[in-house]
Amino acid sequence: MRLRRWIAGVSVAVALHAAESLPVPLGLDAYVPAPDANPLTRKTVELGRRLFFWPGLSRDGTLSCGGCHQPERAFTDGRSGAVGVRAQVNARRTPPILNRAWGRAFFWDGRAPTLEDQVLQPIVNPKEMDLKLEEVAPRVRAERALGEAMRAVFGREAETADVARALASYVRSILAGDSPYDRYVAGDREALTEPQRRGLHLFRGKANCVACHLGPNLTDEAFHNTGTGWKDGGWRDRGRYNVTHDEADLGAFKTPGLREVARVAPYMHDGSLRTLDEVVDFYDQGGRPNPNLDPELRKLDLTAEDKRALVEFLGSLSGKVHEGWPGSR
Ligand code: HEC
Ligand code: HEC
Repeated sequence: MRLRRWIAGVSVAVALHAAESLPVPLGLDAYVPAPDANPLTRKTVELGRRLFFWPGLSRDGTLSCGGCHQPERAFTDGRSGAVGVRAQVNARRTPPILNRAWGRAFFWDGRAPTLEDQVLQPIVNPKEMDLKLEEVAPRVRAERALGEAMRAVFGREAETADVARALASYVRSILAGDSPYDRYVAGDREALTEPQRRGLHLFRGKANCVACHLGPNLTDEAFHNTGTGWKDGGWRDRGRYNVTHDEADLGAFKTPGLREVARVAPYMHDGSLRTLDEVVDFYDQGGRPNPNLDPELRKLDLTAEDKRALVEFLGSLSGKVHEGWPGSR
């Protein structure tokens, strides 16, 4: 009897646990990682979602996170430079924020070590949302329904750290997978067309893309110099070097994941390449020559058919993008 009760107790606990974990689309690791100090829950994700789309986090109340990271564009904005409050144009492009729960450092130069740290930076960046850090919590508290929701989740009057926790939870809930590529890898040989299969073969072989774009998210989460930061004989953007001051990092940027890549043009940290054809041409030429070019890049001698196949393959990385907690809306 006691044993039976114990077993029932365990299975209830297991069921509760299962009910509280975020479903992951085909192609990604089974669990979405989150730090112990900020467990991923339905409540924090829902709250983070409200904050993400709330323009009250910007100086003039016109721009939310979602104004630049637009869900219908795989969380990008289609611009080569992000546009902040008062129409200020930034030097870098809005990156897609997909599967960032698995990220190791954030921003194109990796200057933010955690998502909790990252999510506050656009709010206080004068060229993006332009608030002062000390204005964040009072603003949230002053928006009554939001302030109450914060209190319900965190058990105290809203603090900046809670805003960061909620936003980071929502960002972790943005998952992209379940693409033809994933179905192919899972064993469905018909999921890719013949040119896409040829493109995958090139991606893994002759074109050497997997030297940097690998794993479930097609990125090594590391920093490489492809030459995009070098223009007219000088550095336009020193990239990772600005963070480490190590010469080996001059002009290095974080390898972006390639999920939904066909939907997130223009490409690279500065949006300087308009189409995937231009990206493939760029790599065919071995990147852009500069004093610190990554040794993995070299002229590829791709045929016109090879290039078409690679672009077709990149198209097979578009599947479904999930955001928020399922069943919450
Ligand atoms: C003005 C447009 C804009 C707004 C508003 C904005 N972002 Fe961004 N976001 C960017 C740009 C541009 C970058 C890259 C900047 C860089 O690398 O220096 C970025 C980078 C990121 C990254 C890093 C992704 C990675 O893989 O490195 C995350 C996560 C992110 N933003 C989340 C948010 C959140 C959360 C908010 C709201 C609090 C927000 N962003 C508001 C434009 C914006
Ligand atoms: C040496 C490492 C490396 C190799 C090899 C490499 N890439 Fe990249 N890739 C990067 C980095 C770093 C960036 C970002 C550069 C920047 O933002 O300026 C990038 C950016 C991209 C982008 C733009 C994505 C976006 O959202 O802006 C695409 C598409 C891409 N690579 C595809 C490929 C393909 C296809 C190949 C093989 C032909 C390849 N890459 C080989 C490191 C690499």
